[in-house]
Amino acid sequence: MTQDELKQAVAQAAIDTIRPQLDTDSVIGVGTGSTANFFIDLLASMKTEFDGAVASSEATAERLKQHGIPVYDLNAVSNLEFYIDGADETNEHLELIKGGGAALTREKIVAAVAKTFICIADESKKVGVLGAFPLPVEVIPMARSHVGREIVKLGGDPVYREGVKTDNGNIIIDVHNLSIDNPIDLESKLNQIVGVVTNGLFAQRPADILLLGTANGVEALK
Ligand code: 5RP
Repeated sequence: MTQDELKQAVAQAAIDTIRPQLDTDSVIGVGTGSTANFFIDLLASMKTEFDGAVASSEATAERLKQHGIPVYDLNAVSNLEFYIDGADETNEHLELIKGGGAALTREKIVAAVAKTFICIADESKKVGVLGAFPLPVEVIPMARSHVGREIVKLGGDPVYREGVKTDNGNIIIDVHNLSIDNPIDLESKLNQIVGVVTNGLFAQRPADILLLGTANGVEALK
């Protein structure tokens, strides 16, 4: 199977997982990226079965609206049963690196609110130790150099992502050459650097369910 076929398969598995639990009042949290896009396109075919969605990025909001799916501000939603999103890396504990698409802050906020976070990913994303994928950090622009120096003290190599502005008007620093043995601890340490908005480690709030697309079918890990 191609990588796109694996992404399509996990998107379908997410639909199959949530569909029996939805009603016409349900609002669904929706992530960002190519895997999430497969999910959005499938969601469109069942849009009469739920109320609407909360988007983790402007791009996702636009795609949902193009399909005629109502998009709500998170502050207007009292109950978010599910958040469905992709990842750049996952380990066996369902701790993730996210933010390859620069949407990490809104993704982390929606994931924090959702009762169940379902991560959908092809098997190339599963690793033993997180960190081969450079860890994205969203930073207030004026703090760029300061945050870079502090990241070096933590053992990482910071690289400014040229030409990228997040939906929140900030910049992204990608941290290379980390071997993340303790994701929960590193997530805290990075968050404590003044000027950091969010980092792409989803370890304090990992996924609850990982639907992993493999050559032998979709595996569900909890
Ligand atoms: C965006 C993300 C995405 O979930 C992550 O980059 C995976 O994307 P894709 O499904 O295209 O591989 O975190 O900020």
